Amino acid sequence: MEHLPDLELASTSGGKKEPQKIFMSPESMPKIAKIQLVSSHPEVYEPCDDSFLLVDALLADRSNIINQNPKFCLEIGCGSGYVITSLALILSQYCPWTQFYATDINLHATHTTLQTSANHGVHVEVVATDIASSLQKRLQKSIDVLVINPPYVPTPEDEVGADGIVASWAGGFKGRLVIDRILNVVNELLSVNGLIYMVALSENDPFDICQVMKEKGFGSKIALQRSTEEERLCVIKFWREKETSEDGERADNASSLNGWLGKVPFLNSLRKKGTENDSR
Ligand SMILES: C[S@@+](CC[C@H](N)C(=O)[O-])C[C@H]1O[C@@H](n2cnc3c(N)ncnc32)[C@H](O)[C@@H]1O
Repeated sequence: MEHLPDLELASTSGGKKEPQKIFMSPESMPKIAKIQLVSSHPEVYEPCDDSFLLVDALLADRSNIINQNPKFCLEIGCGSGYVITSLALILSQYCPWTQFYATDINLHATHTTLQTSANHGVHVEVVATDIASSLQKRLQKSIDVLVINPPYVPTPEDEVGADGIVASWAGGFKGRLVIDRILNVVNELLSVNGLIYMVALSENDPFDICQVMKEKGFGSKIALQRSTEEERLCVIKFWREKETSEDGERADNASSLNGWLGKVPFLNSLRKKGTENDSR
């Protein structure tokens, strides 16, 4: 029988944290939200390629997430609830103590997320609010896992924050308006060892997003990337940069970003120009 790589868990028993190997057979693969149990509403974003990419990134990184012993997880912009419900199911076996929160600016989305999580037997506290403003004081510096699939499509600025389904995609100039507002508050929300997983589009300039976050003291890397006929998407993982680098993630960051961006022809020519200028 083929087995998946072991999960390494930090045991909480006895004070000192000893790594504890958990063996994962295909039967014990974490469950994610079942699409047929995901509620819907005409004004709520249905799970799509970007939602699936984000859940795949969470699944791929689940051993790191579990190692954080997360107490609080938050999704900003939860839509149908597919992502936060999947995260709750992924963690349910190993972290039954974790509490899940979700926000959306669209009231229909908050109702839909409540239904989706209930359909899967998980509890999510859902709040209708702009980004996380009404939770910010309560959850200050306590979020261990923050997941975001923001409205990232470049659109006219006046579409941003519109009612209903338009708020799902309208991202303003370079699709960065809501992204940048979210990234401005993550420092207040994230715990010391907290992790952020955020979907971005090539037009959002992921390299610049990582630079902006570096200035705020966060390391980053491309956790997962995927291209469809219409768009090139990635999930960026962020963490608080420490004095000493951890498991080579900083090095990964530069190499994986360069690798990914190298495949974007437009950016490639810009970067080439930069190199030519540098060598002069
Ligand atoms: C691309 S959809 C993602 C939905 C869901 N997370 C998923 O992956 O399927 C973006 C979501 O963000 C919400 N949103 C947009 N602007 C927001 C804001 N300022 N604060 C909170 N949520 C927002 C939208 O209503 C929408 O549900």
